Amino acid sequence: MPDRFEITHKDVFGRIGKLTTPHGPIETPALLPVVNPNAALVAPDEMRQFGAVALITNAYIVYRNTRLKEAALSGGIHQLLGFDGPIMTDSGSFQLSTYGSIEVRSEEIVAFQRDIGSDIGTPIDIPTPPDVPFERALRELNVTLERIREAMTCCGAEMLLAAPIQGSTHLDLREQHARLLSTLDADVYPIGAVVPLMESYRYSDLSNVIMACKAGLALNKPVHLFGAGHPMMFALAVALGCDLFDSAAYALYARAGRYLTASGTHQLSDLAYLPCSCPVCAAGDPKLTERELAEHNLWVSFAELKTIKQAIVDGQLWELVERRCRYPALLQALRTIQKSCASFEAIEPLKCSFLYTSTESAERPDVARFSKKLNNLELTGRVLITTNRKKTRDMEQEFDTTLLMKAPFGPYPQELAETYPIGQSEVPAPDHASTKSAVRNLIELIRSKNLEATFAYDDRWNREDLVELSSYATLLPL
Ligand code: GUN
Ligand code: ZN
Repeated sequence: MPDRFEITHKDVFGRIGKLTTPHGPIETPALLPVVNPNAALVAPDEMRQFGAVALITNAYIVYRNTRLKEAALSGGIHQLLGFDGPIMTDSGSFQLSTYGSIEVRSEEIVAFQRDIGSDIGTPIDIPTPPDVPFERALRELNVTLERIREAMTCCGAEMLLAAPIQGSTHLDLREQHARLLSTLDADVYPIGAVVPLMESYRYSDLSNVIMACKAGLALNKPVHLFGAGHPMMFALAVALGCDLFDSAAYALYARAGRYLTASGTHQLSDLAYLPCSCPVCAAGDPKLTERELAEHNLWVSFAELKTIKQAIVDGQLWELVERRCRYPALLQALRTIQKSCASFEAIEPLKCSFLYTSTESAERPDVARFSKKLNNLELTGRVLITTNRKKTRDMEQEFDTTLLMKAPFGPYPQELAETYPIGQSEVPAPDHASTKSAVRNLIELIRSKNLEATFAYDDRWNREDLVELSSYATLLPL
């Protein structure tokens, strides 16, 4: 079978891809709005206008309602919902985690999803909550694994199968489970049981869980973040390698009078102005009905996905993540993922521009990658590193080599002045974070090449960094 997932653009761990399903392709990253088969606030056939290409609904709700069940079995889920694009179905696992038990076996609900013509079906995985003991997470994960194996034998040839990754907040279990599931060659890999992390704003823990799952997964498979629907975290999740989102957030937040934006949430009643130009907000009246609020929430969610896709095309996804991660819990998450720079360095494609958007930019993978690039330089002997070449021209002949210095990257030879990132970066005057990174890379170069270095610096260079540098280089104030 040809690959059902084709990747066309990449940036950080994010990608634009195409997932082929029986009812047509889904361009990723994609948000699948949750529609309730009983009472949808926004009808399935209306979802397209907001940008939805595919939907997700709950097969268990259909299954346990006689009328819906019969209609779905005779006419199919697409006819029942009145939507002819791709429909993913969930299994009732979430009901299991909320109510403690459900009245159907996994095998039965998978066969039911197959029989009603679902495009992507899901077995009954066990959504083990965060922070439970390792033994429980392992025990439940083994049940999930068994159900996925069983589902592979009864999902049919048409329906794609989602294989949820569990393991609670045990990162080693997440990674191992992902690695095992990769060998089964399912079609979609959802990361499960993360809703409690998102509800309590534990974005740092969420990021660690996503990174652990991705570390174990084959990179050519689409990853779904179960239950993620707040647009402020889409950029972060996409950068970490999530391709699909599903959420009832647009409706749940609307019910609570909450107005979503890509940078956070507002209580509608606090808004004298609506900071958005979607058709609902453009009308001007800040007193929105629940239905209008749900529509706005959908508009901004889909607009954010377009912003993210364009950022991927432009090679600017990391910049976008930095801009979005300003809410404290998200900033914490950004700092968490920066510590895993090394894994990003290895995969990030070549870039053509670097915009320094905040002190966090000094810790971007490109900065660490530049340090590796410096290692390729052939350097020996006496080296002058200068922050102001005009002032050091007279002394250059005393050295074997002269390097320039640009924060946050560090030292570079004139030949690299026009290349990425030195030549293609927009950086404000050096700040504490950027000089720190630059000096770190300089020290790394001096140490690895065993250089006899002199650093000629102007007064924009931070004292603290100079103190650190002084054990590796002669300091020369300009
Ligand atoms: N929806 C939100 N979280 C989960 C999960 O862990 N498993 C399934 N099947 N659905 C979910
Ligand atoms: Zn709006």
